[in-house]
Amino acid sequence: MRLHDKRALVTGGSDGIGLAIAESFSREGADVLIVGRDTRKLDAAARQLGGNVETLSADLATGAGIEAVAGHVKNCARPLDILVNNAGVAFLVPFETVSEEQFQQSFALNVTAVFFLTQALLPHLAAGASVINISSYFANKMIPKRPSSLYSLSKGAVNSLTKSLAFELGPRGIRVNAIAPGTVDTAMRRRTVDYLPAEAKAALSAYVERSYPLGRIGRPDDLAGIAVYLASDEATWTSGGIFTIDGGYTAG
Ligand SMILES: NC(=O)c1ccc[n+]([C@@H]2O[C@H](COP(=O)([O-])OP(=O)(O)OC[C@H]3O[C@@H](n4cnc5c(N)ncnc54)[C@H](OP(=O)(O)O)[C@@H]3O)[C@@H](O)[C@H]2O)c1
Repeated sequence: MRLHDKRALVTGGSDGIGLAIAESFSREGADVLIVGRDTRKLDAAARQLGGNVETLSADLATGAGIEAVAGHVKNCARPLDILVNNAGVAFLVPFETVSEEQFQQSFALNVTAVFFLTQALLPHLAAGASVINISSYFANKMIPKRPSSLYSLSKGAVNSLTKSLAFELGPRGIRVNAIAPGTVDTAMRRRTVDYLPAEAKAALSAYVERSYPLGRIGRPDDLAGIAVYLASDEATWTSGGIFTIDGGYTAG
């Protein structure tokens, strides 16, 4: 098992990409703590994942939520070997209509939580720990008629933080990388598509079919392999990377 004896925290580990990553970590022998807000989703995920999984309900878009997670980890007997900053929110709304509230919510979870949770957990990261931030292709590549200024800005910030932290934390033996997925079929993706009029939905599907060289969007477990690699001792000289996992979409 590639993550035997390691201890991992996955934010947003109760659904979508985070759940698939938590599941793969657990399969590879890690003890996994998953964090989300909804306790029913957390319980369902824990049942799905089995024995070596612990859950914690916290809203990471708040300072109190970040403190609660850091406090929990501090009280654990062992330090963390793996931190996955995965929880995120996507408002795909036209630039001219973005409200200050949407801006604040987006940054609170996608940027502030990644920054300050990692900072708060720093004293509890083991030597050789791996931090994995979940970014998005939207940091660099857009989709016609999918207004992404706010989301793209937040994920661009995640990429910059990943690279700068790799430099700052490297001397402590901590590796920091990001995974930039293409479109993945999750609740988040469905939320950003469901409200579209039928015509726009059909146009988006046709665009996706044309644009993904491998002919499909991703499934959450398409991201699991790279996450296990980055978390494992196979990646001890891998830091500061933004790993594109997108079925070839951004190659075009
Ligand atoms: N799906 C895609 O197409 C796609 C593409 C590129 C990048 N990404 C990125 O991948 C990451 C995961 O996305 P996903 O599609 O898997 O999302 P998802 O299916 O909506 O799952 C989000 C997870 O985060 C948790 N969460 C949401 N808000 C939270 C908060 N304030 N505090 C704590 N936990 C919170 C959710 O649980 P609760 O709701 O119970 O809190 C859930 O476990 C995000 O960073 C996203 O930006 C997604």
